[in-house]
Amino acid sequence: MDGTLPLQLPLLSPIVGLATFAFVCYSYAQKTPKYPPGPPRLPLIGNAHQVPTKKNWLKFTEWAGTYGDLVHLDALGQHIFIANSEKVANDLLEKKSSISSDRPIVQMHHLSGFDKALPLRSYGDSFKKQRRFLATEFSPVAIQKYHSLYDKEARLLIQLFVQSPDSVWSDLRLGLGKVILLTTYGYQPKSTNDTFLMTNLSSLENFLAFSTPGKYLVDAIPFLKYAPRWLPGSGFLKVIDQSQNLLQSALRGPFQWWKNRCQSGEHIGPNLCSSVLEKAGGQLSPPEEENLLWAAHVALGGGLDTNVSFLSTFFLCMVLNPDVQTKAKAEIDLITGGDRLPNIQDKASLPYIRSIMAEVLRWSPPAPTAFPHVTTRDDMYEGFSIPKGSIIFPNVWNIMHDPARYPDPTAFKPERFDGDDSKMSQVNIAFGYGRRVCPGQHIASSYLFAIVATVLATCEIAPGLNEEGQPMIPQIDYSESIISIQKPFGIRFVPRCPQARDLLIETEICL
Ligand code: HEM
Repeated sequence: MDGTLPLQLPLLSPIVGLATFAFVCYSYAQKTPKYPPGPPRLPLIGNAHQVPTKKNWLKFTEWAGTYGDLVHLDALGQHIFIANSEKVANDLLEKKSSISSDRPIVQMHHLSGFDKALPLRSYGDSFKKQRRFLATEFSPVAIQKYHSLYDKEARLLIQLFVQSPDSVWSDLRLGLGKVILLTTYGYQPKSTNDTFLMTNLSSLENFLAFSTPGKYLVDAIPFLKYAPRWLPGSGFLKVIDQSQNLLQSALRGPFQWWKNRCQSGEHIGPNLCSSVLEKAGGQLSPPEEENLLWAAHVALGGGLDTNVSFLSTFFLCMVLNPDVQTKAKAEIDLITGGDRLPNIQDKASLPYIRSIMAEVLRWSPPAPTAFPHVTTRDDMYEGFSIPKGSIIFPNVWNIMHDPARYPDPTAFKPERFDGDDSKMSQVNIAFGYGRRVCPGQHIASSYLFAIVATVLATCEIAPGLNEEGQPMIPQIDYSESIISIQKPFGIRFVPRCPQARDLLIETEICL
């Protein structure tokens, strides 16, 4: 026997032991998924108690400061990722959009049937068909046929604002709803109590109430949906019944109206449904008709509160920044000579107006964390595991308030874009990401431009007055839900001169 062995064995044993230990740790680490940093978890429930239910963008932004560009939460086993930077949001939701375009299942939406609507629809065949209708019919070229309608409706709306300062906020909602119904079905609501409009608005309220996290217990404990109706706490089942009925009326009412007009050959203006029917050679198969029914219906849900949010921010920022209004009016007058109203065709010649619109989207994006996306496959990102079924929120708010890109981010400064469209286009993340990006963004950009340019050309947007006749400067105060809307405040639209008033009232009021 070699005399060195007894000496080597005691030396080797700890080395072998350490190596084995390191190997076991390594193998375990390989098998144990590694997640990005996030707030500390509690046993069993993880971060469930910390998932913010109101103004989630503020908490997400605070976590971005502590944990970085990608934050991870585990709420009772549900993985949630928050993409806080432009790069991470882009990598996960644009570049990997083939696996990050699903939506979370919310029980109240599912039980009342809202999950058949595009914004909640699972990524699949019907989703693709509905999206194709909207993407084709609402493309920048296709919507040119609505430009004259939008210019006219913008003028009517501003006339209403001038005449009835006390009902600005309700007129705004109704006016926007009217334009969406005209665009989708060619249907013109005749009064503020119009049945189709009211039914759709009420159904939308249900949808928003069901979207409030934590409002209904069944979302956290899905088997409650089997609860007998006599059981205390099962009242939500009645809410679901009512909401299903309302949804069916909101969905089918205007669609049936449109079908009847088509069958009787009655003339209605250009609209989404007629355009799809025409391209299908005048005949739709039952599945195609079902897809069109849903595609048309979601325009109001997707477009109403987002547009209301945009305009409420625009009005607020104009009241708070009268110098911006003066500069905007001067730019418009250079183009129109003050003798006519601006229109959508003038958009290319009005870089300061475009900058104001971009700054509104940046300063307060209507959907500050867009709508959540869900992954459909296990994935890895920069060494971190992203399991199938994870929810991803793009923190649009944080990206839009990054001081490195937007110095003094809380200030409202359209000048920060230098009239440069490539800089302005960076705020288009307000319309979301990848295969879920907002299909109504071109409609929104056109109609909102018509309103913004017309009001700046004709009116001073001024604060409301108190009983002593003193101006009441509004407080910045936004709602807490997924679409964040500045709360109504006293506001006056004062025509800048008799000629501006005359130009406005050349358009006949219909709503
Ligand atoms: C300022 C106005 C608007 C803003 C800021 C806005 C923003 C958004 C955002 C952030 C999303 C979610 C995208 C994502 O999941 O990544 C979205 C989706 C959607 N928007 Fe808009 N939107 C606006 C106007 C409109 C209009 C006018 C319409 C219809 C005419 C519309 C219809 C929709 C629909 C149907 C979806 C769901 C798309 C899907 O899930 O595939 N939106 N929008």
